[in-house]
Amino acid sequence: MALHVKHVMSRVLNTPVNCRIILRPSSWWSNVEMGPPDPILGVTEAFKRDTNPKKINLGVGAYRGDDGKPYVLSTVKKAQSLVMEMDKEYLGITGLPAFTNAAAELAFGSSSSVLSDKRNVTVQGISGTGSLRIGANFLEKYFNGNKTIYLPTPTWGNHVPLFKHAGLDIQWYKYYKPSTCGFDVEGAIEDLNKIPEHSIVMFHACAHNPTGVDPKPEQWKEMSSICKKRKLLPFFDMAYQGFASGDIDKDAAAMRMFVADGHNILLAQSFAKNMGLYGERVGAFSLVCSDQDEAARVESQLKILIRPLYSNPPCNGARIASMVLTDPDLKASWLAEVKGMADRIISMREQLVENLKKEGSLRNWSHITDQIGMFCFTGLNSEEVQRLTQDFSVYLTKDGRISVAGLSSGNVGYLAHAMHEVTK
Ligand SMILES: Cc1ncc(COP(=O)(O)O)c(C=O)c1O
Repeated sequence: MALHVKHVMSRVLNTPVNCRIILRPSSWWSNVEMGPPDPILGVTEAFKRDTNPKKINLGVGAYRGDDGKPYVLSTVKKAQSLVMEMDKEYLGITGLPAFTNAAAELAFGSSSSVLSDKRNVTVQGISGTGSLRIGANFLEKYFNGNKTIYLPTPTWGNHVPLFKHAGLDIQWYKYYKPSTCGFDVEGAIEDLNKIPEHSIVMFHACAHNPTGVDPKPEQWKEMSSICKKRKLLPFFDMAYQGFASGDIDKDAAAMRMFVADGHNILLAQSFAKNMGLYGERVGAFSLVCSDQDEAARVESQLKILIRPLYSNPPCNGARIASMVLTDPDLKASWLAEVKGMADRIISMREQLVENLKKEGSLRNWSHITDQIGMFCFTGLNSEEVQRLTQDFSVYLTKDGRISVAGLSSGNVGYLAHAMHEVTK
């Protein structure tokens, strides 16, 4: 490595001339290695380069309308016009109170005793990711137990670096069963029962990413009682409330069941998908406490964590979301729009299975309609995925995950044909 030798002559205070020798490499950053590209963004890059007019991008996790285009909700457009003239002053450290109150009510339910007892702390976060990160940082500093978080196998790719960078250890519990493309209930129960007491467990509240596989209510109940028995701290990631079934209460039911069972959970909410506010970065982090006094103390420390991170969260998206959630007319039309998006995804799943049957596929594809939410774990192996991309210009991640939101009445038949060709 080339080194420059630099002589620096200086007078310091009244001492005689000092001769300092500073050794430095040719660049401060020559030690920095090239990192791997993001696996999902890599899929989009390859898709862009492809000139096949029939190409389909099923890698991206953002909703598309039946015309294949990004979709801005009409309720969001109306709310946006209402907040357009507002000033751009800073929000407080914990965000916009009208938004955090409405987000907590949406999550826990308006009749939740957590809210009437004022046992929750809810702060605005930078969408779901930033809200998870606030929780991770808080756990790292204040959790009085085993600073290990148990994640489902598999989980959203960003969970691992997010919790690791915050200083938590990562462990796993079984979740997905490749042989059925469904929930591995026995594996999950067995593993949860073995987790050391006072550890943290991550649950996807609904529409598990990447598998689209959610436990049934009675399976959630059993997991809740194991967490109770083993004194585990549940952390819910709710990135798809309303987007899974089309019903905001149904999609929050598992998390609310844990709260009703007496778990003082952590919760990260995202409004990226259910309001289509992706780039506005609207989210919330909540922590359920034992009482109002504890909640006040926790909130004071969350402020101390947030202030040097980004000082205060962005205002525009939070104003839009709070407007949508608090104006009765806007809320009613938003609920209808969320249901519309969820229903389109459910219908695409059905059409994909119907078209596979029409193609003459003899495989059992029932998991496609059993799974829920934006993503579907097709069960295709890496060779089949490679053939889909090479021979049919269908782009998806290597694990066989497709974003069902990328399907439309115009391309679902082509996808079914391609899937049948690579699996027969
Ligand atoms: C499981 C899960 N958690 C959190 C997020 C956070 O997304 P965002 O930061 O865009 O709200 C996502 C988005 O894909 C997700 O799938």
